[in-house]
Amino acid sequence: MSPARVPTPPPPAQTARQLRETATAARRRQRSDDLNPLRQGLRLEKVPDPGAFVLFGATGDLAHRKVIPAIYQLWRTNLLPVEFSLVAVARRPYSDDAFRTDVRASLEKFSRVLPLDESAWTEFAKRITYQQLNFEDDSGFDRLAARLDALDAERGTGGNRVFYLATHPSQVTDIVRQLGRVGLDHELRNSGWRRVVIEKPFGRDYESARALNHEVNKVFRESQVYRIDHYLGKETVRNLMVFRFGNGIFEPVWNRSYVDHVQITVAESIGVENRGAFYEETGASRDILQNHLLQLMTLVAMEPPSSFHADALRDQKLAVLRAITTPTPDQVRRDIVRGQYGPGWVQGEPVSGYREEPQVDPQSETESYVSGRFTIDDWRWSGVPFYLRAGKRLPKRATEIAIQFKEVPLRLFRESSGDPAPNVLAMRIQPDEGIMLRFAAKVPGLGLDVRTVNMDFAYDTSFVVDSPDAYETLILDALLGDASLFTRADEVEAAWSVVTPIINSWADTAPPHFPNYAAGTWGPEAAEELLQRDGRRWRRI
Ligand code: BG6
Repeated sequence: MSPARVPTPPPPAQTARQLRETATAARRRQRSDDLNPLRQGLRLEKVPDPGAFVLFGATGDLAHRKVIPAIYQLWRTNLLPVEFSLVAVARRPYSDDAFRTDVRASLEKFSRVLPLDESAWTEFAKRITYQQLNFEDDSGFDRLAARLDALDAERGTGGNRVFYLATHPSQVTDIVRQLGRVGLDHELRNSGWRRVVIEKPFGRDYESARALNHEVNKVFRESQVYRIDHYLGKETVRNLMVFRFGNGIFEPVWNRSYVDHVQITVAESIGVENRGAFYEETGASRDILQNHLLQLMTLVAMEPPSSFHADALRDQKLAVLRAITTPTPDQVRRDIVRGQYGPGWVQGEPVSGYREEPQVDPQSETESYVSGRFTIDDWRWSGVPFYLRAGKRLPKRATEIAIQFKEVPLRLFRESSGDPAPNVLAMRIQPDEGIMLRFAAKVPGLGLDVRTVNMDFAYDTSFVVDSPDAYETLILDALLGDASLFTRADEVEAAWSVVTPIINSWADTAPPHFPNYAAGTWGPEAAEELLQRDGRRWRRI
């Protein structure tokens, strides 16, 4: 007897949520199809939850040059879910369409990949809305909250929200307070996650950074706060951790027994461009030393973390910052150099001095260059100087970390021509990203001539792919809830406690005679003398 035929039930109607999930899965599949085969297996990519990205300061320079192009790029490469919404917020009145037109124009200029992908742009543009808002205006924030709730219903953004503050630093407190007032920080059960991303500079000294942390933490829990230092998102900076902790051979020599000193350089050939007013308030110490330079220093110097979870990593970085010797006024005078560029030539072009730049006081005493000798009081680094330098209008753009090893104990080849220089491991953060090891080699021939040669690894030839921009990496991490590349409250404060005594001591003493270096040179004489005193010199980059 044949079994009774059981009718096949009709497929259940898909709910809106299931349809969205299917679309997201299709985007994921498409992404892996699009992947360059050389990249396969290089990175485990995840797609964030549905959510709204609320961009404060959306009409500003940072938003148009960096943040929106990064989001577009994530969208174009299918790294954002279909239920993604970009809510642009700023003071100026704009219609959604007018704002989209401006975004399109900026993407045409600043997108990392051009020409724009028309179908990706069409879909991306549909997800952009504009909300005019005065940051002191309560009713504007009430409207924003209502708009975000409406988006949850219309676009399936699931109550998840990133608030990205690309505004003037003075507006951060007001915005955070307003977000708290309307309850946009609340992560109630099933209401979705809420995160706030805050751009640098975070405060202008130790006290103001503490006060700002206090205000922010009144509203958001620390785990919801993502303080951005875009250097941490740079591919080569992230590789520094892989280099140190993914290879066994460097760790045994990564300490005071083998390392003579470390040099970290953030050199820029550009001047202050159209940011004179901002730069007058910051100078190189607040703009680069407090954040980018000290962050690079912590990554070189930290102990291996037990994992790459945000707090494990940040605990180790914090330990370094806390172990950096706080400079006394005497040490500031001796070990820290400030400079300001005068007119000169950069890459064959005549350029004006800092005091002639737009929005800069013609008598300005703001430093466009800072360098210094820092030490870390811990077991690993005791007695090893870290020389840091940063400046604008230097001869070229170059960010580099150089570990210089000690000389060999017995200079066997000193009689031969070309006594070898000590080994150097140089990590080029940008441009020409790569790593170079300098060592001695015998010159071919019957004699015993020795010469220093370089063993070079270059990113672009080893991995034939473009690296993402730092903002792409960091925005994706914020959407995924991974805070490991963002700075924690205590870390920012510890960095300020290194830099604040420098700034205070400068405020109490007459500045050097500015300008004290010509544009297109490597900074003031005093910077050369700083290393000469220790029997060393800056690397020629
Ligand atoms: C920013 C500074 O944080 O970093 C700028 O405010 C500087 O003054 C910039 O020009 C340098 O970043 P990058 O990625 O070009 O090295």
